[in-house]
Amino acid sequence: MCAPVHFDVTEKSNPWMQPNHVVDRERAVSQWRTLVDVYERLGHRVSLLDPVQGLPDMVFTANGAVVVGGRAFVARFRSATRQPESAAHQRWLESTGTYTVAMSEGIGEGEGDFLFTGRHVLAGTGFRTEHPTHLEAQEFLGYPVLSLRLVDACFYHLDTALLPLDADTIAYYPGAFSAGSRRLLERLYPDALLATAADARHFGLNAISDGHHVVIPADSTHFADRLLDRGYEPIPVDLSEFRASGGGPKCCTLELRPADGTPAG
Ligand code: ARG
Repeated sequence: MCAPVHFDVTEKSNPWMQPNHVVDRERAVSQWRTLVDVYERLGHRVSLLDPVQGLPDMVFTANGAVVVGGRAFVARFRSATRQPESAAHQRWLESTGTYTVAMSEGIGEGEGDFLFTGRHVLAGTGFRTEHPTHLEAQEFLGYPVLSLRLVDACFYHLDTALLPLDADTIAYYPGAFSAGSRRLLERLYPDALLATAADARHFGLNAISDGHHVVIPADSTHFADRLLDRGYEPIPVDLSEFRASGGGPKCCTLELRPADGTPAG
C-alpha cells in the first residue's frame, strides 16, 4: 500500500474523476489509515511503498503489478501521469528478493485488470489493459489468463466490475461486460453472486476477500447484505475521498502472493 500524502485528482482518465474536486488530503490519509488498520486486525502484513511527489494516483497500488506464485508482472500504464509508478513498483518488488519481476511490454494495469481466482487469472480489456498483454501475462505467470471485454466506461478496470470471493465463487456486475464475456462468466461461474447496477456504482465490487471477510466500501450496504446472505462477513470501510478519482478499497491494495512456502516480502 502507499500513503495518499500526494493524492490529487489532476486529469479525467475515468468518468469518476473530478479534476475540479478539491482533495481533502488529511481526510484521505485518515481513511486510508483505517484501511491499513482493518488489514492488520484481520492478520495481514502490510508493506508500504514510499509515496512520490508528483504522482497523484500512487495510492492505487493495485494497478502497479499483479503478483502470483512469486512472479510479479509490473504494469505499463496508459496515462503519462501514471507511467513513472511502474519503476517504483519494480524497484520495491525487486528489493524484497522474494519475487521474479518483469515489466509488461504492452499496456497492462496490474490488478486493476488482472484478478487471480486461485485457479486462473481473469483479465479485463476495453479501456486500459491491451488485449495482447493478456497473453504476455499468461506466458510470464504460467496461469491460464481468460480475457473479458469491458464495455461500460464507468467500470474501466476489471476490479470495479468483478470480485473473486474464494476459489470457487466470484461476484460481478453483468452490465459491465460484452455479451460474449457474460456468457463465459455464466459458464465458469453459474453460482456467481450477481451485483446490481447500483451495487457496482457504489463500488461494491472494488473489494478484497480472504475467502470469508470481504472488505468493501461503507456505502455499499445492499451488496453487503447480499454477501451476508451467502455466508461472507462484509467489513465496511469509508474510502469516500477516493471516489472522486474512481478508486475504492481494492484499488488501494496490491495483493502479494509469494511462491508457496516463501514469506511475503
Ligand atoms: N484515478 C485512477 C485511474 O484512473 C484510479 C485507479 C483506481 N484503481 C483501480 N484499481 N480501479 O487510474
